[in-house]
Amino acid sequence: MKKFLAVIMFALMLTTTARAAEFEMVEYSAQVKLQWLAAAGIPEAQKFLKLINRPVFFNAGNLNDFERIEKTNALYQELNYAAAIEYVRGKNYKNVFDLACSLSPRAMILGDDGRSVIVGELQSVCLLGDWCLEEIGSKKAIKNVEYLSFWLQDKQGMMNAADKLKGEVCIIEQGVMIYLTDDVRAQMYENIRDVLKKHGGCMITSDFCQKKYFTDVAAALYGEGNSATLYNETKAMYEKVFGDKISDESLQDEQEALEFLKTHGLVARKVPLFTRTPALNIFKKLTPEQIQKVNELTTRNYLWVITAL
Ligand SMILES: C[S@@+](CC[C@H](N)C(=O)[O-])C[C@H]1O[C@@H](n2cnc3c(N)ncnc32)[C@H](O)[C@@H]1O
Repeated sequence: MKKFLAVIMFALMLTTTARAAEFEMVEYSAQVKLQWLAAAGIPEAQKFLKLINRPVFFNAGNLNDFERIEKTNALYQELNYAAAIEYVRGKNYKNVFDLACSLSPRAMILGDDGRSVIVGELQSVCLLGDWCLEEIGSKKAIKNVEYLSFWLQDKQGMMNAADKLKGEVCIIEQGVMIYLTDDVRAQMYENIRDVLKKHGGCMITSDFCQKKYFTDVAAALYGEGNSATLYNETKAMYEKVFGDKISDESLQDEQEALEFLKTHGLVARKVPLFTRTPALNIFKKLTPEQIQKVNELTTRNYLWVITAL
């Protein structure tokens, strides 16, 4: 009996350690994203980073080609961040469901606009997110933004969170797909379809073209000849953070992605990232030639607007 209990205890310990490591990985990926947004010069992201006061993961001392990787990722993240804010404001969505967005300066800004924002994340990120909001959010943002913890594959959890929003929702999701297994991704899209059917509205994402989009961002800064290298270096960096392979090939073919969405009762239309030339913070760090190339990028249809069939 004693031996049996010891085996059970050991197994439990292993599971707990594995789970803890899993949480650490996702928290790391959340923090790295914040690092890029801060590097782009977004004041809200800089405030989050200062507040959580954790060691910065990547720097010139531990990552080859750091300067180029940082600038490319900072630009990519700011484009996503600003495009989502512009879309929500342009369509004047009163409700935003920000999925797996990690610590979200974007939620804080949209909450400050007076919109209701639910951030869906893992519990450890939610605890940190709530605290950051209390510390650096405006009164309006604190009132309007709420972090709620659920797994993306949790049908009831996602619906319960969405039900706190009254009226049409704009779901924002960016960059999580590469971390998910096929079955979790499929379940997440089933859940999103259910939310859109019940509440109306849309989901915006660039996940179905992220590989091309990121490579184009790198090319705008450092030329076509360097873009594949920067993509691969960034991928290797995220795999290091994540501690596992990421599935960046999934659903990058447009027809395959549209079929996948159809299977889950969804349909997509592609729209430009921005409807007018954005004033990005990162422009202060770019040359006039780079800015011109970035401005060309902002008119491309990297944003997928997904609705229920
Ligand atoms: C790299 S971040 C995503 C980046 C962010 N959405 C963006 O705009 O770039 C991945 C986030 O997804 C969350 N996440 C990963 N797997 C999840 C799951 N199964 N359910 C809920 N959240 C998850 C992690 O906590 C992490 O904050």
